[in-house]
Amino acid sequence: MYNEYHSLASHIRELDLGEYLEFGCGDGGFLKYVLDLNESFKSVTAVDINTASVEKAKETLVDYDIQFITQEKLPLNIEPDRFSSITLSNTLHHLRDKKSVFEELKRLIKPDGQIIITEMISNELTEPEQTYCRFHALRAEVDRLHGIFHETTYTSFEIQEMVSGAGLRMDSKEILLNTKEVDPDNIESTEMEATINELTQSVSEKPEFLALEETARSIKAHLRQYGIKRPRQLYLETTL
Ligand SMILES: C[S@@+](CC[C@H](N)C(=O)[O-])C[C@H]1O[C@@H](n2cnc3c(N)ncnc32)[C@H](O)[C@@H]1O
Repeated sequence: MYNEYHSLASHIRELDLGEYLEFGCGDGGFLKYVLDLNESFKSVTAVDINTASVEKAKETLVDYDIQFITQEKLPLNIEPDRFSSITLSNTLHHLRDKKSVFEELKRLIKPDGQIIITEMISNELTEPEQTYCRFHALRAEVDRLHGIFHETTYTSFEIQEMVSGAGLRMDSKEILLNTKEVDPDNIESTEMEATINELTQSVSEKPEFLALEETARSIKAHLRQYGIKRPRQLYLETTL
């Protein structure tokens, strides 16, 4: 999905990855995108709290030599100033304790290293992007009902406030537009409807179910009218 954002590739190609950490690697989608585009890494470390996602990432990234760490507790057992580059991609809204994570990333990055943050935003979206944003908010709510920490996406302003509040300097900033063509009648919309139905059904025993079904109905109507695509992202290159 990251190849939907054309200008992202040119940013990634220009990075000097060196000793590289992807924090919140999930199933490895972003990490594979980066490593396939840019060979400047000397070592690669990937951290996540979710064992199942890390297992998938190991499969996806089988061709690369990566140290995987599955751990929530911080600090990690890694010496300070170890990494030349750290990426945090669509992970911010999954972090229960952002303050501790930012402190840890600042401990781990070399004084001249870069922390790259890319995150979907919720402001100034087109109608198809709004469909995705609303779908994501539903998924986040379902995750919370299952006890998983997952917030809705933030505005670009909120993200920048978090980043500067964490004491990081923003050296470069861009809103990455999603250039994918949208067709409300395509197979993706049909699959999306099925995913929305599955999501709501997974909480059919919860008191919130009826309200969620109503939300799901409204998202599906929006999906049929406008189609869907992933929202634009805020891309930030930051330093200490
Ligand atoms: C949406 S996924 C992003 C995956 C990947 N960065 C990508 O863009 O392809 C967010 C990930 O953050 C992970 N996560 C949440 N809290 C975390 C924490 N405290 N430390 C590390 N990873 C965390 C989640 O388990 C999830 O896999």
